[in-house]
Amino acid sequence: MKKIAILTSGGDAPGMNAAVRAAGKFALNTDLEVYGIKRGYLGMLNDEIFKISSQDLGGIIDRGGTSLLTARCPEFKDPKIRAIAAENLKKRGIDGLIVIGGDGSFHGADLLSKEHGIKVIGIPGTIDNDIAGTDYTIGFDTCLNTILDAIQKVRDTATSHERTILIEVMGRNAGDLALYASMAGGGDGILIPEQDNPIEVLAYQIQQRRRRGKLHDIILVAEGVGSAHTVAEELKKKVHTDVRIVVLGHVQRGGTPSGFDRVLGTKMGAKAVQLLLEEKGCLMIGIEGNQIVTHPIEYAWEGQRRNHMEDYELTQVLSK
Ligand code: F6P
Repeated sequence: MKKIAILTSGGDAPGMNAAVRAAGKFALNTDLEVYGIKRGYLGMLNDEIFKISSQDLGGIIDRGGTSLLTARCPEFKDPKIRAIAAENLKKRGIDGLIVIGGDGSFHGADLLSKEHGIKVIGIPGTIDNDIAGTDYTIGFDTCLNTILDAIQKVRDTATSHERTILIEVMGRNAGDLALYASMAGGGDGILIPEQDNPIEVLAYQIQQRRRRGKLHDIILVAEGVGSAHTVAEELKKKVHTDVRIVVLGHVQRGGTPSGFDRVLGTKMGAKAVQLLLEEKGCLMIGIEGNQIVTHPIEYAWEGQRRNHMEDYELTQVLSK
């Protein structure tokens, strides 16, 4: 392997820059030539590919977002489009690619590898923490802390007005952000896509709390369950408390990456280059039991995600 490229794809996540930096620096310290691809697969298609120098990697480790820019690229599902994009790598002699993103981005990487023989390593970068084969994705920890900060502020006003406030957090298919924000933020209830928790139960829990003298509630709603607005409308029919909503939205994706996300991004970035130097491809990197591990890339969507049932039960008990 002589030349490799790095891209970030899908939703940005704090800590992606640490992975780009580590992969880039590690590779430049070997004899590899390193390229950056702007705007993910869209940039690969549009030939927005540039040679990375160490200057491009300075001053980014503490920055949220991604210095390589990112985009969603639905066109990449078309094999003809992938062929054009692959040609843009091949004409430069690039035969190794590091893809930092979520499972949609890994799907694209897998196809690129199978169809065009490019060696690809996936690094899980998404705030959602919805990828199998890793306990944590880059960006999850920072996002969790952003939500905790919001909970603390919302609680001040919820207690003052004795209200029920629903906080909608991101997580299309996974409730990890809602679950762990509730656990760490002392939430009073959660709605997540993995668990059927009918509104009736939530309403009953709120009423029980009122009987015990607790006059406010903070409920975490993962967006995968539906909008907090709809949930609030349903809830209002069943309880007599004042119900309000907060939709945190893209605030959750920004901010200075936490130490954890920087370390995770750094370790994964370096590992990706090591794997390419060993001529390995079609792999994803993860962290399991505090160890950096690798799996076939398909494991991201075919494997079993860590079971959160115990943690879910715990938050249910503690929110009583
Ligand atoms: O990156 C994952 C994610 O943050 C999801 O939680 C959310 O549903 C989605 O991205 C939002 O994407 P976009 O910014 O493209 O609207």
